Amino acid sequence: MEESFFITLEGFEGSGKTTLAEILYKILLKNGLKTVLAKEPGGTIIGDKIRKIVLERGNEELGYKAELLLFAASRAENVRINIKPSLEKGFIVICDRYFDSTTAYQGFGRGIDMSIIECINSFVVEDIIPDLTLFLDVDSQVGLQRATIYNKNLELRFEDEFLQKKEVDGKLFLERVRDGYYQIARQNPDRIKIIDANRDISLLIKDIIEVLNFRLSQKYKKEIILKLPN
Ligand SMILES: Nc1ncnc2c1ncn2[C@@H]1O[C@H](COP(=O)(O)OP(=O)(O)OP(=O)(O)O)[C@@H](O)[C@H]1O
Ligand SMILES: [Mg+2]
Repeated sequence: MEESFFITLEGFEGSGKTTLAEILYKILLKNGLKTVLAKEPGGTIIGDKIRKIVLERGNEELGYKAELLLFAASRAENVRINIKPSLEKGFIVICDRYFDSTTAYQGFGRGIDMSIIECINSFVVEDIIPDLTLFLDVDSQVGLQRATIYNKNLELRFEDEFLQKKEVDGKLFLERVRDGYYQIARQNPDRIKIIDANRDISLLIKDIIEVLNFRLSQKYKKEIILKLPN
């Protein structure tokens, strides 16, 4: 996996993961780099079915254990079918959410024992660990507003729980997830770069490309300077 590079985007609802993953994908292709775009949950035939179950409104009765295992099952398929083979072929892989989401939502958010989360995460991904994770840090109210106002589909199960001010052990579910992300970032300073995602998209892209130039140059052992579209 000499020339491969694995980037994941993480963060709260409406932080801009999907938008930025797509922009970044186009920039890397324009710069002549072999790149694939992946997303979680989903991205495979089974994964897309799981996505509907875990994200769509109407599945409120889904329990935490089943939710954790469904996300894990979707990821296992994504790693097996998309991510690992692409990295082995030397592609850059951009993945919209990955195992940090499980740690943030099911671990810190739902309160499932962290040793179980770590065990399932490592069972699923094995050695497929991101080279770089961009944590898009958005104010939760800004993020929720973006996610609910612009969302054109039914993928609002988590948004509904946040808007209902659901609590877990006396603390808002939303705050548990957000604080969880900060803890994950603090625990993995070499892998995770925190990006202030409250700003204009063009500024975020500029920051991300700067980080990427540095990290790609480091990994490929030659200077990489990505050109931005005009
Ligand atoms: N920095 C930004 N400034 C203003 N609007 C933004 C910004 N980033 C994203 N948006 C808009 O907010 C909406 C949600 O963004 P997006 O779907 O990329 O978020 P997400 O992190 O993928 O959310 P989710 O976790 O729900 O999938 C989109 O309509 C997008 O255009
Ligand atoms: Mg998204």
